[in-house]
Amino acid sequence: MIKICCIGAGYVGGPTMAMIAKKCPDVQVTVVDINEKRIAAWKSDTLPIYEPGLDAVVKEALGRNLFFSIDVDQAIRDADIVFVSVNTPTKTFGEGAGYASDLQYWELCARRIKEVSTSDKIIVEKSTLPVRTAEAMERVLHSGENAMHFEVLSNPEFLAEGTAIADLENPDRVLIGGHETPSGQKAVQTLVDIYATWISRERILTANVWSAELSKLTANAFLAQRVSSINAISALCEATEANVNEVSHAIGTDSRIGAKFLKASIGFGGSCFKKDILNLVYLCESYGLQVPADYWRQVVLMNEYQETRFVKNMLRNMFNTIAGKRLAVFGFAFKADTGDTRESPAIRVCRELAAERAKIVVTDPKAIENAKIEMPELIDQIEFEEDPYKAAKGAHAIALLTEWPEYKTLDYQRIYDSMSKPAFVFDGRNHLDHDALFEIGFEVYSIGKGLKSHLQ
Ligand code: NAD
Ligand code: UGA
Repeated sequence: MIKICCIGAGYVGGPTMAMIAKKCPDVQVTVVDINEKRIAAWKSDTLPIYEPGLDAVVKEALGRNLFFSIDVDQAIRDADIVFVSVNTPTKTFGEGAGYASDLQYWELCARRIKEVSTSDKIIVEKSTLPVRTAEAMERVLHSGENAMHFEVLSNPEFLAEGTAIADLENPDRVLIGGHETPSGQKAVQTLVDIYATWISRERILTANVWSAELSKLTANAFLAQRVSSINAISALCEATEANVNEVSHAIGTDSRIGAKFLKASIGFGGSCFKKDILNLVYLCESYGLQVPADYWRQVVLMNEYQETRFVKNMLRNMFNTIAGKRLAVFGFAFKADTGDTRESPAIRVCRELAAERAKIVVTDPKAIENAKIEMPELIDQIEFEEDPYKAAKGAHAIALLTEWPEYKTLDYQRIYDSMSKPAFVFDGRNHLDHDALFEIGFEVYSIGKGLKSHLQ
């Protein structure tokens, strides 16, 4: 029986390993973490992350061939394959601060693996890492006196939160990078065979390690770039009375462009897009490639511009003063169907609204607890309210920041009746029926369409 250990029981480690365990009953999978609370939650009825369909996948394999543990050393020692799926945030100190990846968690894992192993192992980079990290890791793993052989593979994860289970069950592709040596190719084949249990072989791509590492950063950069591109156009649409939804549809039907990731929004959030692009910028700069570095940096700058532009529009349309006004923020998660609030555009929006001394009330079906952690400095200034009707009561405006499906079906007449007038809706996701809202009496602003007003 092949034994897998995965270090890191987060948004990636938990779901990916649960899927492998579900699909491969004869592979034993143990997910370990230093965070005891997280491990306990994976074994409980309330999983540590909200992800549609995840409960059933975990339940099916838990205790059969899927285990969660805090005994990191034992799981490493027993394993034939060690996935490393720890966090790789942006470095906040020293060389490369604000851009480079903080590799301390990854390196600690490599040292631990080297220290406790008593047999050869395949080490799989599941975390997103700068190109050529495998080289540094191999040096750590093979340093000093150690007779063991560690073959490092890169197997980046492409799942998106909110659709993780569907993405894992039926991925566009799986990418496995390995060295072009006999032991490298043997390790690649071992991992290919595991994925081939449920994914057709044509969709399992193999590459050299560096290409696999770089493909992950590149994929995220391209996706984020599309969002920034359409958001740049949304600003121009507002200035010219073009409608961004129509532009997006018109260009997306060109098969060379494609329809996905062209939804104008308040900006992209999530733990990875910004971090991975900044990492790409840092990599380009460290290889002396200033023009490519500046090119990618602009994608992030455009995103920040879009978030700030949204707040400025709120302020301008609400007669240049929001001090003391109650503003209901509908949605704090960085996208729908997740409770994750990391790098959510809502954070900057709330901070900027708070700086204008607005009274903010945040509502979200899944992310309120995480939202509280994101803004510790504002915790006394912001109200958190599960019920959107109560959040909107007496408010001057609603700012819709997450496209939760349930926000489409709220009784907006009831909400309008309970609000201060003129009542505004600022739709940061182009999610609601703007004509219907306008009919009710709302002043309606939306991204790429601008303000529809009864007051002009
Ligand atoms: P996460 O923060 O949710 O999980 C990482 C876990 O690793 C944490 O629980 C932490 O306690 C644990 N950890 C850190 N150091 C450890 C150590 N030395 N020993 C044991 N456990 C340790 O992060 P995540 O969102 O799962 O992301 C993990 C990696 O996957 C990152 O590199 C990220 O860029 C990448 N990624 C994330 C996503 C996503 O949707 N979140 C998708 C694709 C790739
Ligand atoms: C993204 C990628 O889609 C995954 O392939 C990748 O594995 C992952 O990053 C990662 O490396 O962490 P994720 O961040 O979970 O996944 O979610 P996305 O669906 O990509 O959305 C990211 C952000 O862009 C969200 O805030 C979303 O609302 C926004 N977005 C997305 C738009 O504003 N417009 C769009 O058209 C699409």
